[in-house]
Amino acid sequence: MNALAVVTGASSGIGYELAKVLADNAFDVVVVAEDERIDDAAAQIGLRSGGVHVEPVRADLRGYEGVEALVARLRAMGRPVDVLAVNAGVGVGGDFVRDTSLDDNLEIIDLNVRSAVHLTHRLLGDMVDRKQGKVLFTSSIAATAPGPFHSVYAASKAFLASFGQSLREELRDTGVTVTTLMPGPTDTEFFDRAGMQDTKVATGDKDDPEKVALQGFEALMKGDDHVVAASLKNKVQAVAGRVAPDPVKAKMMRTMTEPGSAEP
Ligand SMILES: NC(=O)c1ccc[n+]([C@@H]2O[C@H](COP(=O)([O-])OP(=O)(O)OC[C@H]3O[C@@H](n4cnc5c(N)ncnc54)[C@H](OP(=O)(O)O)[C@@H]3O)[C@@H](O)[C@H]2O)c1
Repeated sequence: MNALAVVTGASSGIGYELAKVLADNAFDVVVVAEDERIDDAAAQIGLRSGGVHVEPVRADLRGYEGVEALVARLRAMGRPVDVLAVNAGVGVGGDFVRDTSLDDNLEIIDLNVRSAVHLTHRLLGDMVDRKQGKVLFTSSIAATAPGPFHSVYAASKAFLASFGQSLREELRDTGVTVTTLMPGPTDTEFFDRAGMQDTKVATGDKDDPEKVALQGFEALMKGDDHVVAASLKNKVQAVAGRVAPDPVKAKMMRTMTEPGSAEP
């Protein structure tokens, strides 16, 4: 029987490509998203990667019940999860006080942070008992700097980067690895959904989600601690992020993320 992978946020963008590359490498994949188009995504992935089973699950992971419903579906399959890719995430752009609603910001935390903790807590125990498993968190290059004009989003990604590295150390010698994927700006629906179309970061060069996912997959399989994907520019930003002071990085990020910063 094939090994089993679970990918959240697999209906589009990086998660869809992660599910594709896992299926191409003979994993059966449970693909999860909120919207009904996850059914089409599953069908497409199944068609191109013959011989694997691709199971769509619709769940709103912002809520406790949505995560529990996903866990129940996985338990009902009666199969161990070999790979968990915690990838679903959303952002909201704009001035925290004037442009964004409290609900939007709390929903970022519910999806990007709360559901990641919830799902990982539910699934990691079995992996540790089996002494086998691989977890991938989709964080972001945004985790390496303060994020004015997407402040809650950037903080949520910093949470994931820290959480992933911490779990990795705790799980040393258990047979379970934790890898953090840190994409730069990537050509997905993310910026439109976040309302960031008029920013420099959204209108500048972006990476191909297929390449980002491939680099994430390769790092996950090797059990690397993290991978900065995909372009050289992004890797340079990650290195700079380790040495530049936070106030300097905040000013630099502002030029990329402030509403209206897009080049005419
Ligand atoms: N694009 C970038 O520049 C970039 C850079 C760094 C990191 N990332 C991270 O990459 C991850 C994937 O984003 P993406 O760029 O591929 O964007 P995307 O194309 O918008 O994909 C987001 C995915 O998350 C799912 N999702 C959203 N709300 C959900 C909910 N409440 N419950 C369950 N699933 C939900 C979406 O499914 P539905 O359509 O069903 O809601 C979709 O499958 C995110 O964590 C993002 O923070 C993106």
